[in-house]
Amino acid sequence: MAGVSPNRNHSSMKETSRPTLSPPPFPELEALLRLQGRLLHVSRLATVGEMSSGIAHELNQPLCAIANYAQASERLLAAPDPDLAEVRGALQAIADQALRAGEIIRHLRGLARPQHAQPQMTDINLLIMEITDLIQSDAKHNHVRYRFEAGMGLPGVCVDRSQIQQLLLNLIRNAIEALAELPADAREVVVHTQRNPAGEVEVTVSDHGPGVAASIAPYLFTPFCTSKAAGTGLGLAMARTIANSHGGELDYHPNSPSGACFTLTLPAAPAGVSEH
Ligand SMILES: Nc1ncnc2c1ncn2[C@@H]1O[C@H](COP(=O)(O)OP(=O)(O)OP(=O)(O)O)[C@@H](O)[C@H]1O
Ligand SMILES: [Mg+2]
Repeated sequence: MAGVSPNRNHSSMKETSRPTLSPPPFPELEALLRLQGRLLHVSRLATVGEMSSGIAHELNQPLCAIANYAQASERLLAAPDPDLAEVRGALQAIADQALRAGEIIRHLRGLARPQHAQPQMTDINLLIMEITDLIQSDAKHNHVRYRFEAGMGLPGVCVDRSQIQQLLLNLIRNAIEALAELPADAREVVVHTQRNPAGEVEVTVSDHGPGVAASIAPYLFTPFCTSKAAGTGLGLAMARTIANSHGGELDYHPNSPSGACFTLTLPAAPAGVSEH
């Protein structure tokens, strides 16, 4: 990467001094954008795949609860003088658990489906809360605590919700993986939102794991840079592409006293734009 200059055709273009009639077509750019869309889709599928054992575990709980409540209802109804209030309570619990299972599946389908960017006015805290179930199932499965510190009075952001959720899931997954070797009490991932002094919205994902290895740090956001045997090294590259395509940034800082801290910065949506 180091030897590649993005402006290497600049001088030759100047020399030919081509008249600027209309913007030339950019088939390469179109092909690149199509490829970028496909990569985003693959990256989403990879994250969903990695989370699948945690998700299976999480889905198993409402399904077991539904089976137990259904059996209890049958027993209650078999009694000579059934307590209908109790049966109604059990049926309500069944409905609640079914909704919870459905919600987990709905989020998974949303992530797995290929999508074109659909920016919409969004409250970043709500966007993060929507993926709490997915994060909690992954965190619990890996014996990691998850904490969300929601900043107050944040401006809205205009984003493709599923892309930003995917970006955050990538960062959180990395943090969970980085904590694998740590003692149980140090295994915590914190997501924090705030308004920065420039009025932009900031989301930080931090942990107190080993932090990014010095040998990797300079290439962290370069595609295929990975320290993991089974890693693609695409997670952070895609995350930064998503951040930049929203007019934002994604940066890394070592956490204090140890660990990693990734900061996503998004421009505040212009005042007067209302939420959909
Ligand atoms: N929270 C973190 N703590 C320590 N190192 C990290 C953290 N997040 C990322 N890294 C380092 O950055 C590298 C690149 O991360 P990236 O998400 O791009 O790919 P990956 O996680 O290796 O592969 P994949 O995302 O396909 O599973 C990781 O291999 C890891 O070395
Ligand atoms: Mg990763």
